[in-house]
Amino acid sequence: MDGQITRREMIYGSALVLSGACVCQVAGGADKPRSTNCHAPDLEPESLTIGQKSLTIDLAKAPSLEAVGNAAYIMDKDRKLDIIVVHAERDEYFALSRFCTHAYRPISYIRTRKLLMCNNASHSIFDLTGQVVKGPAPEPIKSYAAKLVAGTLQITL
Ligand code: FES
Repeated sequence: MDGQITRREMIYGSALVLSGACVCQVAGGADKPRSTNCHAPDLEPESLTIGQKSLTIDLAKAPSLEAVGNAAYIMDKDRKLDIIVVHAERDEYFALSRFCTHAYRPISYIRTRKLLMCNNASHSIFDLTGQVVKGPAPEPIKSYAAKLVAGTLQITL
């Protein structure tokens, strides 16, 4: 089944309502930030410290990453940061480029399969190390080392 999209993922991943908004976001309405198959909330800026070649996330200030299965985007145009951080398991996080290598569309986290999927209609799929599981993406997405240290997540750029 690897590399194949289930009917539910296809509906969630590609469905757009008339307004152009994603069904996941419309249906969500949760009081806590929560990633879906076609969306990830922005990481809370107060949780992030940007170093020269590293990022430090204070997880106590990042409710978007609190629950296992959640993911959040880090975007900073000035510093050219475009990263998705995934809380895959208890004490296990991944950080990757948030763009597909096919046509550079954003990717989202599929919590039920622990895979990343491109939001574009072609839906390339990647594993949490960035390797291509299903194309048309021609190359892996860049992944960054992510290490838990005393309640913080340290990402090496
Ligand atoms: S941009 Fe991702 S599959 Fe085309």
